[in-house]
Amino acid sequence: MQDLRINEQRLWDTLMEMGEIGGTEKGGCNRLAGTDLDKQARDLFVSWCQAAGCDISIDKIGNIFARRPGKNNDLPAVGTGSHLDTQPTGGKFDGVFGVLSGVEVLRILHENNIETPTPMEFSVWTNEEGSRFQPAMQGSGTYVGRFDLEAELNKTDVNGIRLGDELERIGYLGDMELGSRNMGAFFEAHIEQGPILEDEKKAIGVVRLGQGIRWYNIEVIGRPSHSGTTPMHLRKDAMLASSLIVAEMQAIANRHENGLGTVGFMQVWPNSRNTIPGNVKFSADLRNPVPEVLLTMHEELVAFCEKVASDQDLEVKVDHFWYFAPVEFNASDDVKAATEKLGYSHMDIYAGAGHDACYMADLVPTGMIFTPCLNGISHNEAEYSSPAECAAGANVLLHTMLEASER
Ligand code: GLV
Ligand code: MN
Ligand code: MN
Ligand code: MN
Repeated sequence: MQDLRINEQRLWDTLMEMGEIGGTEKGGCNRLAGTDLDKQARDLFVSWCQAAGCDISIDKIGNIFARRPGKNNDLPAVGTGSHLDTQPTGGKFDGVFGVLSGVEVLRILHENNIETPTPMEFSVWTNEEGSRFQPAMQGSGTYVGRFDLEAELNKTDVNGIRLGDELERIGYLGDMELGSRNMGAFFEAHIEQGPILEDEKKAIGVVRLGQGIRWYNIEVIGRPSHSGTTPMHLRKDAMLASSLIVAEMQAIANRHENGLGTVGFMQVWPNSRNTIPGNVKFSADLRNPVPEVLLTMHEELVAFCEKVASDQDLEVKVDHFWYFAPVEFNASDDVKAATEKLGYSHMDIYAGAGHDACYMADLVPTGMIFTPCLNGISHNEAEYSSPAECAAGANVLLHTMLEASER
């Protein structure tokens, strides 16, 4: 078992095959949650797992679990998994690398007829990205009980289409109870999505923490009026007010160590060049690894929105609909031990992005394995990790899972 290694070429070919589903001209992927493309990707995962001897279960929020039996099937399984949905201009690796590293682990176990002490479980979580439906990590968050199932199934995209209807339409609205898998540990491999491992020339990031996230929907209600006849001092310009808030997001982030602030989504009404915008809706995303700091950033944002409303004499509604508290991964040492056994260079790191493992940590000992990505770029069609970098992460996943199963 010590000498067991994953098949680098096969892992790469599998990544490239999956990347064709929703593949973009610039070499990335556009595979939003709940779409036909999401269905195709899920179907491919299911067929690969079935071919390697797994039983498939789907839960009530569409998460997929593929179980490979072990010696004693009453023992809790060692789990792995990530997501197959992508950003609209996403890459081929975010999430997919973790899912397909799992498939490669499965194939290695299968072709070597290895009977592990416990079952092994390979999963795909619904809507990790939070792009089409909010929040992010919706499938894993609902699975662990952080979100209400009905409320999440009723979430709609910008066109008013329900997540529940989409899952049903693509055949992935299952009946398995949430939280009901007998799992004893969970490990997720993921590209780092940032520049640190590349800069530090480390093959593996042992992820110690997932940073905190706060998400908002902000709506500014002003008054639409004529751009050529309304004097500046009589305007209630929802776009101007929004711009001030967007700029303040950056200022808030810069005031705090490791602070991050982003507005990535915006809708303007009536969106006509000679009408002063009467209504603007936009997203806000604040992040920090320290909960107290993130709370201060939150308070500053809310206070600034109140100030803008009063200064500009219009209405600003702040809906703070998601708080993800920073999470410590308590099975990181298992990842570190496997990394050292395999002789890969490594460092401790924290996750800037959200991951399904962040919610699984509520239920079971959990660890994450990061691999470098080119120029630290992710949520971008240019996202890239080399075959060897991917192979290193998958090997660490394999040995972390084997060790956990032996215990
Ligand atoms: C979600 O996973 C995020 O990091 O935005
Ligand atoms: Mn991801
Ligand atoms: Mn992502
Ligand atoms: Mn993510």
